[in-house]
Amino acid sequence: MTGVTSAPSLVVRPAARLRGELTLPGDKSISHRALMLAALAAGRSRIEGAGDGADVRSTAAICAALGADVRRMVDDATGNASYVVASPGIDGLGEPAADLDCGNSGTSLRLFAGILAGLPFRSVLDGDDSLRRRPVARIIEPLRSMGAALHARSNDSLPPVTVVGRSPLHAVDVSTTVPSAQVKSAILLAALRADGRTTVRESVATRDHTERMLRARGVSVETVADGPSGGAAISLEGGSTVLAVSERVPGDVSAAAFWLVAGAIHPDAELTLRGVGVNPTRRAVIDILVSMGADLTEVVERPDRPAVDGGEPTADITVRSSELRAIDLGPRDVAAAIDEIPVLCLAAALADGTTRIRGAGELRHKESDRIAGIAAGLVALGARIDVDGDDLAVHGRAALRGAPTDSLDDHRLAMTFAIAGLVADGETVVGRPGSAAISYPGFFADLERVRS
Ligand code: S3P
Repeated sequence: MTGVTSAPSLVVRPAARLRGELTLPGDKSISHRALMLAALAAGRSRIEGAGDGADVRSTAAICAALGADVRRMVDDATGNASYVVASPGIDGLGEPAADLDCGNSGTSLRLFAGILAGLPFRSVLDGDDSLRRRPVARIIEPLRSMGAALHARSNDSLPPVTVVGRSPLHAVDVSTTVPSAQVKSAILLAALRADGRTTVRESVATRDHTERMLRARGVSVETVADGPSGGAAISLEGGSTVLAVSERVPGDVSAAAFWLVAGAIHPDAELTLRGVGVNPTRRAVIDILVSMGADLTEVVERPDRPAVDGGEPTADITVRSSELRAIDLGPRDVAAAIDEIPVLCLAAALADGTTRIRGAGELRHKESDRIAGIAAGLVALGARIDVDGDDLAVHGRAALRGAPTDSLDDHRLAMTFAIAGLVADGETVVGRPGSAAISYPGFFADLERVRS
């Protein structure tokens, strides 16, 4: 098996043991932002350890199409990419010659919409069939309120999105309509070009990489608690300059999640994951697994690696075979572990008791309808899952047996079904496994490396 596969399906057989150490792909969210902020900063930025999945490469290509000089070098040992980006800075970016192709990447589309809203030219953000089904009204409305003109298909709800930017934009005080770091980030990036102080309010806190990374580049971003249920108000002053910096991207905790679950559910496992990003707004999957009884050890300090890298805390995490128990997750947990809920459903299917997940509707708007997709795949493998609207009940202690599954071309479903195959009896067939390369091109090579 190679790292990247274009095969229509792939068979995973049960593993006798799982052992080893893995270096993960660079965090996808941070890699996107590091490239975008490098394009906004005048001068030379360096990025080490960026994820080299298709999504991040879409962002790199768009930075180049807007006028930055983007050089990418891949490290064969880790599969991660180093970039040197030389940019004229935000005022030197220019109208692209063609539509901007975001591929499968919602983060590219939403965050670039925010950047382009403040640039005085016309551009079109488009992508693949999956991206063309993902909602964009959530960014169009706030960016319009800032004075940019945006249009999309189907009553302004679906890509492609045409953006005619203006400079300066109006500073606004807005509340996001869904808990989404992509929406928050789009507004904050547009706010750099506004004529005053912009405030974004979110009722549930979402990942804060944009805020941290702007601060690391000289922009003063203020975050204060807002509202009764853990929300925040984030504000910045328009006209702030983004500085060029060097940054190392931590390992992707959303990629680590597959191995954390694999180690916890397999009866003979010990896996160590090196340099995982454990930002408090991203680490919910770790804390949920610990609450479920997973045997995890987190080592924060190491002599050869700083505990905080590029403004982001990192740790080495070891997971061992565990006895898991069911857990109740609500809408705040779903927002905090939005990308890891599919693989947590696999953990729940093997735990003791029934796990209830409430308010998971946002999962229907990801690369696929992940509620339908995860339920169909895990039920095919013998799990019992009841779906009631946006709520799931995953009954534990399933006896998983190999069967055909379909990733729906969704990377997180492909990797979840492959991990299930390590513990299911017989042969698990992962349909459309190549989608793993969206975020984790070396996933199947790593799977071969740790199994025996
Ligand atoms: C991301 C935010 C999340 C997540 C996505 C990456 C980001 O989306 O699902 O994979 O980098 O900001 P939403 O914030 O829209 O839920």
